[in-house]
Amino acid sequence: MTSAHDSAAPDIVIFGGAGDLSFRKLLPALYMAHLHSRLEDGVRIIAVGRQPWSRQQYLDFIDARSPGFIEPQAMETGAWRRFLARLQYVTVDVTEGRSYQALADLKLSGHQRLFYLATAPALFTSICAHLHAAGLVDANSRVVLEKPLGTDLASAQAINTEVARYFREDQIYRIDHYLGKETVQNLMVLRFGNAIFEPLWRAPFIKSVQITVAETVGVGSRAGFYDGAGALRDMVQNHLLQLLCIVAMEPPVSLDADDVRDEKLKVLRSLRKMDLAAIRRDTVRGQYGAGVADGQSVRGYLQEDGVPAGSQTETFVALRAHIDNARWANVPFFLRTGKRMAKRHSEIIIEFAEQPFSIFGTGPNHQPNRLIITLQPEESIHLGMMVKEPGSGMNLHPVKLELDLQSSSDKRRAEAYERLLIDVMKGRLTHFMRRDELEAAWRWVEPILRGWQALDDKPRSYPAGSWGPATASALMAREDLTWFEES
Ligand code: BG6
Repeated sequence: MTSAHDSAAPDIVIFGGAGDLSFRKLLPALYMAHLHSRLEDGVRIIAVGRQPWSRQQYLDFIDARSPGFIEPQAMETGAWRRFLARLQYVTVDVTEGRSYQALADLKLSGHQRLFYLATAPALFTSICAHLHAAGLVDANSRVVLEKPLGTDLASAQAINTEVARYFREDQIYRIDHYLGKETVQNLMVLRFGNAIFEPLWRAPFIKSVQITVAETVGVGSRAGFYDGAGALRDMVQNHLLQLLCIVAMEPPVSLDADDVRDEKLKVLRSLRKMDLAAIRRDTVRGQYGAGVADGQSVRGYLQEDGVPAGSQTETFVALRAHIDNARWANVPFFLRTGKRMAKRHSEIIIEFAEQPFSIFGTGPNHQPNRLIITLQPEESIHLGMMVKEPGSGMNLHPVKLELDLQSSSDKRRAEAYERLLIDVMKGRLTHFMRRDELEAAWRWVEPILRGWQALDDKPRSYPAGSWGPATASALMAREDLTWFEES
């Protein structure tokens, strides 16, 4: 073990310190924690990068980029300067053992070392091995692994096995930033902190569940990564399946990390595996073409910088999943995500079953009760109810029973990355994925990837700014359902 400095505060070491994730998300999140006194005084942030920069060059780079990703009202010049004073920069070729000496020279904290691997996952194992060989990993070290962890089950298992040689499972924080979103955490409270929902939270009272994560952005500058991944790996394997787990899991024994993760694992293991017939019937792949997004004309995916000619990578997925357990028998879960869609919009919709018999008959305004949990862009929860239309007669009319999360508390609502980074420092693993959970998600997703190949399933084109290919609506229409925004 190399010598350590005696600060009682953690050191946060970010591999990929000059990368997109760092300047867009991690440093803004750490700045917010700093601004709100959630970072102890001695905490150092050590960015590790390939570029042979001086500390000042790195600070200039961050100073020019990160403020644009911080809410303007939170940018305080003095606080930002004091935050920058915490930053160090070291040049390391992460595949080269000797190169880690530069990090060792900084004499990392003997109290807590937090290694955040915001690099390509192919580098994770080599970084962990070199950190260990350089004597930089101790019993109090923690490692944060960014998604995507692997590209299929075998590569995820290989990374997990290798990382486990140097870090115990309780030192490993597999991040899925959706688990840090306030509304996602709130969903657990909504379900398990209110007696009224639990009796109804099952078949046959729930008819279907929809989970949509729609983005207006395109692939941007990330084609190098994205084209090899696609929406199923980038979004469904992690974010959407995690949302599904929180909607569907049984009440955990406690909020302890393993109790919550045990329940999510059971959901993942109960997901019905798809065979080729199911893949053909119940999945839709799409790829955006040219169109209009956020009011601007935009190129199609194939015209984006860095996308190989003729790429068949999907930028949109819709699928129907089933959870084979007593609570969810025959309740379809519809998942959908895409880039360059009509709106930035993430929503979970719980559609309750219709009444077995209605004394009001049927009418054009009649709608089933729906609980709508909006994660983005604003956070809200509302329940669609039927009330009497004012006037004579007994006509029904839909209204929303609304939970206004913004005005329900004047406490600051931290961004997901800030909340999760604080969790890592405090050793709270509940909102991070355990190894078996992550691998179970790959076990379900991988046959779909292979099935698409076997079926030679080409993505259907959809215009940027739309809700995806028409076949996605057909997937719902088969069951007499519609995506919520189409209803
Ligand atoms: C990331 C994906 O995990 O999540 C991106 O790699 C995606 O492709 C992003 O854009 C979406 O996150 P958010 O918080 O903006 O919904």
